[in-house]
Amino acid sequence: MSVLPIVRIGHPVLRRRTAELPLEQLKSSTVRTLIKAMVPTMRKAQGVGLAANQVGVGLNLAVLECRASRRYPGKDDFPLQAYANIHIVKYSKKQVVDWEGCLSVPGYRGLVPRSESVTFEALTPEGKPVKRSVKGFQARVIQHETDHLNGLCYLDRMIDMRSLTHLDEFK
Ligand code: NI
Repeated sequence: MSVLPIVRIGHPVLRRRTAELPLEQLKSSTVRTLIKAMVPTMRKAQGVGLAANQVGVGLNLAVLECRASRRYPGKDDFPLQAYANIHIVKYSKKQVVDWEGCLSVPGYRGLVPRSESVTFEALTPEGKPVKRSVKGFQARVIQHETDHLNGLCYLDRMIDMRSLTHLDEFK
């Protein structure tokens, strides 16, 4: 399966809100092929999530997976998931501050506050509407990917830019 090039911060597609997919488009072969290519792209880059605009496509689509991640050791695993039209409908008041990185901002980490748990609504690749509540690292990743889909990146969420750290200095 082909691996797609990941665009980096500065590319305008990362700053535009992505478009919702009507059901017919979600089931089209173009979109199915895109989702199938986003999975190996995320895995090869050792990411735990990837939004479609990170591969240059302005659609509300994301994949996520955490399996004994080398980039994020010690984080709870979660299985491979793909969603379209993701909307977070509930944020826990309680927030947790932790390190985040981004495949579109390679080489850096920063401290980002996120809700400890969230509830989101989305469509599965088969077009089935789902409503899921997630917590911990998975909640952080869903918030990070939903930000991408809305034209934001984690740097916008950092409270103090002084925590921005190059990976060579991160230990
Ligand atoms: Ni990212």
